[in-house]
Amino acid sequence: MKKIKLETTVTLYENYSSFSETEKLLFTKAKAACHSAYAPYSKFYVGAAVLLENGVILQGNNQENAAYPSGLCAERVALFYASATYPNIAVQAIAVTVFYNGKDLEDIVSPCGACRQVMAEYEHKSGKPITLYLLSANQQVCRIDSVKDTLPFLFTADILKASEGN
Ligand code: THU
Repeated sequence: MKKIKLETTVTLYENYSSFSETEKLLFTKAKAACHSAYAPYSKFYVGAAVLLENGVILQGNNQENAAYPSGLCAERVALFYASATYPNIAVQAIAVTVFYNGKDLEDIVSPCGACRQVMAEYEHKSGKPITLYLLSANQQVCRIDSVKDTLPFLFTADILKASEGN
């Protein structure tokens, strides 16, 4: 028997001062995206902004539905929008934030497992890491350098390929 310890490194920032203008714009767009979320049931307004390798920034937000499972998280709305619009341009980064109870959420929001799996797909497709910026109130940011760091044992096309012929 052997035990293996997996580690994840995250970087925490107290303000935006060390970020580039592009990163700051990404954060602003993620914050703005919350306000057009359609979240009448949870009232948990999630905003996401995706930075593509060509410099384009696209926004997404959660879209809920009276049939609850038919809704979709902000991150997947933004990523699917990006992939549908720019299918061959790699995703460089995604910023995520939440507006709840009339203010920016103070806690960092961790994307759900399904969203991380979708991020992992695009990371795998381009072969380049996607940086995650998890934004909370008062310019606090948690940076994670690759989706892989957020989802140990993620499922990728490599597993499908490896199982061919079995
Ligand atoms: N939600 C997101 O948009 N992203 C996440 O990473 C977690 C949850 C949404 C789904 C639902 O509309 C609301 O937040 C409450 O779960």
